Amino acid sequence: MNQEQIIERTVDFVKAVLADAEGGHDWWHIYRVWKSAKQIAQSEEVDWFVVELGALLHDIADSKFHGGDESVGPQKARAFLESLNVDEAVIVHVENIISNISFKGGNQIQHFKSAELDVIQDADRLDAMGAIGIARTFNYGGHKNREIYNPDIEPNLNMSKEAYKNSVAPTLNHFYEKLLLLKDRMNTKAGRKMAEKRHAFMETYLEQFYQEWEGVL
Ligand code: ADP
Ligand code: NI
Repeated sequence: MNQEQIIERTVDFVKAVLADAEGGHDWWHIYRVWKSAKQIAQSEEVDWFVVELGALLHDIADSKFHGGDESVGPQKARAFLESLNVDEAVIVHVENIISNISFKGGNQIQHFKSAELDVIQDADRLDAMGAIGIARTFNYGGHKNREIYNPDIEPNLNMSKEAYKNSVAPTLNHFYEKLLLLKDRMNTKAGRKMAEKRHAFMETYLEQFYQEWEGVL
């Protein structure tokens, strides 16, 4: 099987596995991350095959939908790629990408670095920003039945990984706990440029939100 066929089979696999996923972590999230990763990769020196496989498989079993178990994603990806006889070095790289891509409050040490992970991480972060990022965030908050906004509950910027995962704060707090922090954490130049536009859009959105909240606009 050539690389193109492997990518096609991976697309089919991911669509099937994520068929019932929450709307912000479904196939279309993967589709957008895959597209953005390819866009960013045009200005980076990377192994395209690893970028595509990593982007497609990065949320194959997100730990927050698997009782916090972070080993399911890499294991699922490995079993799938082994079934297609993908090189061991590529499989190990993809496993490392899946294990190290996540934000989880932003206070974690990242144990693995590669140019390919940098690109995919930027693409994943971009999907948490801008118009799409706003949509995903409210979808997730609705999925968890959280309040949209509560002026009495302040954002918490120093959350541990556990506190971040278990937070029941209003959805608007997530903007301050994650979305607005992403612009300064981009790895690549191309990613940073896209992030700046999406960041500005979120700031405009929030200004409008608070004015509407108080009925002044
Ligand atoms: P990561 O895997 O980088 O930690 P997450 O999967 O936690 O990222 O977040 C992906 C998206 O899911 C966020 O950008 C946001 O849209 C939504 N999300 C996650 N946690 C929350 C939350 N506590 N409140 C609202 N949205 C959330
Ligand atoms: Ni993702």
